[in-house]
Amino acid sequence: MNVKITPMRPEHVDAILSIERVSFPLPWNRETFLFEILLNELGLYVVALLGEFAVGYGGMWLVADEGHITNIAVHPSFRRQGIGRQILQDLVRRAVENGLNRMTLEVRPSNIAARKLYQKFGFVEKGLRKRYYQDNNEDAIIMWLEHLQGWPSDWTQLSGWERDN
Ligand SMILES: CC(C)(COP(=O)(O)OP(=O)(O)OC[C@H]1O[C@@H](n2cnc3c(N)ncnc32)[C@H](O)[C@@H]1OP(=O)(O)O)[C@@H](O)C(=O)NCCC(=O)NCCS
Repeated sequence: MNVKITPMRPEHVDAILSIERVSFPLPWNRETFLFEILLNELGLYVVALLGEFAVGYGGMWLVADEGHITNIAVHPSFRRQGIGRQILQDLVRRAVENGLNRMTLEVRPSNIAARKLYQKFGFVEKGLRKRYYQDNNEDAIIMWLEHLQGWPSDWTQLSGWERDN
């Protein structure tokens, strides 16, 4: 399903909160999203729009030459239709355009869907943060996508979207 990926704005936050609350055990609140998109100079957030309707979103912090993905989620009714892939593809493209050289994120070992999505983009599991998640003390796997600036500039546009490792 093709969606339009566009920078997140305050008018998207209602829809995003409803996705956030059903997607994460420790959801962000309205103030956090508004801070991230209006005040945090390191934050870069996008939404996936189906018409006017926000069906997914993602974001990252730009820290030195690294992009730290903070969250990515798709409305449960629209999952498994390629929207998460399009959001991540857009974030990676923006990371490259911003001159970043690598991207990182934390993911729960139990979150098979997200781990598979990241692996398809070439993210590699490289470390563990013990008891990282406060709701159930689950560890976090740390994943990295490196050497972004060494890639062909159009790699995310390739029709076979999986990076050739
Ligand atoms: C992770 C998430 C964003 C994926 O979004 P999505 O739109 O469903 O993903 P896509 O349809 O683009 O799937 C892309 C690839 O990811 C993998 N994937 C996605 N969902 C999967 C699932 N339920 N089981 C196994 N693999 C899955 C597959 O490799 C898939 O490619 P394929 O469909 O060709 O097999 C979505 O499941 C979600 O919102 N989860 C809750 C929030 C969350 O956990 N975010 C990540 C935090 S680290």
